[in-house]
Amino acid sequence: MVRRRIRFRHAVLTAVLAGALAVPAAAGDVELEIRQTEWELRPGLTTRAWTYGGTVPGRPIVVRPGERVRATVTNRLPVATNIHWHGLVLPNDQDGPALTIEPGAVFRYDFLAGESGTYWYHPHRMPVLPQMDRGLYAPFIVLAPEDALYDGDHTFVLDDWLLDSRGNRLEGTSRQEMERYGNVETVNGKTGDAVAPLRVRAGQIHKLRFINASTAAFHELKVSGHRFRVTHLDGHPLQRPYETDRIDLAPGERVDAELFASRHEGERYRISSSRPELGLVIPIVYGPGSVPASASPFRPPAPEAPAAVPARPDQELVLSSGMGGMMGPGGMVWTIDGRAFPRTRPIEAKVGVPLTLRIYNRDHMSMMMGHRMDHPIHVHGTRFRVLSVNGTAPDQPIWKDTVPVPLGGFVDISFVMKNPGDWMFHCHIIDHEDGGMMTFVRAR
Ligand code: C2O
Ligand code: CU
Repeated sequence: MVRRRIRFRHAVLTAVLAGALAVPAAAGDVELEIRQTEWELRPGLTTRAWTYGGTVPGRPIVVRPGERVRATVTNRLPVATNIHWHGLVLPNDQDGPALTIEPGAVFRYDFLAGESGTYWYHPHRMPVLPQMDRGLYAPFIVLAPEDALYDGDHTFVLDDWLLDSRGNRLEGTSRQEMERYGNVETVNGKTGDAVAPLRVRAGQIHKLRFINASTAAFHELKVSGHRFRVTHLDGHPLQRPYETDRIDLAPGERVDAELFASRHEGERYRISSSRPELGLVIPIVYGPGSVPASASPFRPPAPEAPAAVPARPDQELVLSSGMGGMMGPGGMVWTIDGRAFPRTRPIEAKVGVPLTLRIYNRDHMSMMMGHRMDHPIHVHGTRFRVLSVNGTAPDQPIWKDTVPVPLGGFVDISFVMKNPGDWMFHCHIIDHEDGGMMTFVRAR
């Protein structure tokens, strides 16, 4: 009985996740065509996008923990590409960056989805920016059993686009920025009035999954009339969910939050970014009637010991930037220990042995320019525990795969590599990644 109900809810959830997009085929078995298409961001504004299956975001992949994923990927783009499964722990040959899928070629991924959580996928072929920036990204959801108990489970993929008024893609950067920021911001590929509202009824509890797929933009979301209850960071459940009216997402990060529909039928609220004029606003619309107040189905994970700030991290790294002469866009070069990829030194790790890293952000160039330049560092092939930010341990265990390293400060992380191989370690501001702020964790 229970099982049947969960299956039914799963089908509904799949439809909800897909939104206006095509409903995915049987979970786990996926055919993906990577192709160009004309994509309407709002009536009157259409752009040429690159897509996973003809939509922006691309086709959501929704599976259960441990389920086998077989993704047959056909590249119909004019350039070589590949897919990286951001946040999943996989064998090295399934991770993406080392693969090349030439135009016209087909590649078959075959792996087991691990733990439940909100992940995503995107290309990892250098330069990554011109591919991801054209719309190549999609949710990858590994469902936890309790997810089916929400009144709704919604994914919001955030992005920004740099376009002229007719929707043509502008090259380069704007506003004398060193990174590419858009002048149109989207939620699930739509902007402004075209953004699909979150429809609720009084008393319901909804699960919201936010994914920042922007190549450089940080998004700060505020909700009116409500509070978010944050339950997961980068797909990992918190021991103590917390309430807030604001969610910050660095590029690559995900946040899952509950929204309890505590207001009244017929009312309207909104979730909006700090730049609402660019179109990133999600209306919350209360439908008729109400239901008896729902309780949260969230169950915290088993307790873990609090983090200790490492007295002596195993290794230290310094993130920085400089004028690189011939290297990097605009002559900028983004570095780790003074070197730009591929000249960066690998981080040596032993499979199964914990490694602690202290990562400094000493980006003097950015400090001089006086603009926000936290570097969101992402590690492939593992999840890491955040031991400290600027020497202060978080007040509960925090597991991540992408963490902003604050300008002028540092972050301590620790992780265990599960599988041997070269695993990318890089800034998820894609201008920085392509511009050199990348190395490998070399797990042996
Ligand atoms: Cu989301 Cu190495 O990437
Ligand atoms: Cu960076």
